[in-house]
Amino acid sequence: MSSLRLAKLPFKRGLLNASRVAGGSGARLGVSARHFSRTVGRAQEAAKPKAEPKVEPNAGAGAGAGAGGSSGGSGFGTFAVVLGAAAAGYYGYTQFYAGSDSTDAAAKDAGIKTFDDYKKVYEAIAKKLVDDDDYDDGSYGPVLVRLAWHASGSYSKVSADGGSGAGTMRFAKEIGYGANAGLDNGRKFLKSIHDEFPWLSHGDLYTLGGVVAIQELGGPTIPWRAGRVDQAESATAPDGRLPDASQESDHIRTIFYRMGFNDQEIVALIGAHALGRCHTQNSGYDGPWTFSPTTFTNDFFKLLIDEKWHIRKWDGPKQYEDDKTKSLMMLPADYALVKDKEFKKWVVKYANDSDLFFKDFAKAFSTLLELGVKFKADTPVWEFPTVNA
Ligand code: HEM
Repeated sequence: MSSLRLAKLPFKRGLLNASRVAGGSGARLGVSARHFSRTVGRAQEAAKPKAEPKVEPNAGAGAGAGAGGSSGGSGFGTFAVVLGAAAAGYYGYTQFYAGSDSTDAAAKDAGIKTFDDYKKVYEAIAKKLVDDDDYDDGSYGPVLVRLAWHASGSYSKVSADGGSGAGTMRFAKEIGYGANAGLDNGRKFLKSIHDEFPWLSHGDLYTLGGVVAIQELGGPTIPWRAGRVDQAESATAPDGRLPDASQESDHIRTIFYRMGFNDQEIVALIGAHALGRCHTQNSGYDGPWTFSPTTFTNDFFKLLIDEKWHIRKWDGPKQYEDDKTKSLMMLPADYALVKDKEFKKWVVKYANDSDLFFKDFAKAFSTLLELGVKFKADTPVWEFPTVNA
């Protein structure tokens, strides 16, 4: 097993110094530790409309389930609904703040949760990310992103089941699937948040955790809706729906097309491997993809294109390592993105245009988190301001 570990990184300051990582090789590779723009979020914040979105409480089976809502069954479903609603004049594209006037107070009295309630949850998770940094490379953020993705990626548009809606990742069955090894760290991290906000459904908690992590680690603003409803363990999707890292394009397409995604969305989503690392005790694979594993960037794509990769010689599963520093890794499934012409087109675009990647990732990730969720009609789409910017 490799002894290459990243130094503890100063996540509290929100900055990762590439020169502290892997012996300063970041500079040699010409990959900056922080390449992102928050312009999307800022521009949107400047445009925040006055709105008073309300959502009924989600705890407890049955409440509000499946009442005429839209399902994110296709890669376009969610956004089509949102944009359609905007065009029809019901909503602006997004609604940022619940009003703090008497209507809001009345809604609270009636037990209806508002934007402000969920914003408090967002802020509690963001605060805990900063306070509780003694984990991995200095942040629970990457494992929260993976938890949100695995909770959602069990969706099948063919059998119309799975996804984050029923909150089944809270049960031993789903968290025990081989592909979910290590995600208990994310679940445990979020437990105190659920204790503080017991009205929150687990599906909402796990997906909002992913939204907070992406945004607080410097990524784009992720539009999100509340309304998942916890259901019994019997709602758990069967094992085997998540991608196998040892496989290539055909398998990747089979898995992601089943969720309703196209090639462009697949590539954008896998760009999340800018964050975090592989752990031998979880997946058998080892090491980080980038020099800044707690900062959301397009470096995954840049490194795939710019660096030369060879198969690592080690006592472990087939994975790639970079020729220059031998400190970064790519899974066979990651490397497949440059072997396949259609996928590679998008890798090149995202390597050259960070803003495009941020925009496309935000849209695809938001869609992912809604797959199969039956929202009530008119459920507002929210965007939360970043806390640790
Ligand atoms: C072909 C598709 C994919 C494959 C084969 C794959 C495979 C893996 C593997 C093997 C790990 C290492 C787990 C460990 O050892 O702890 C991992 C980690 C991770 N994956 Fe993926 N993944 C895929 C797609 C995605 C997508 C779509 C996202 C998010 C949108 C994502 C986000 C992450 C993150 C953030 C980590 C780091 C977790 C940590 O540091 O604890 N992955 N992935």
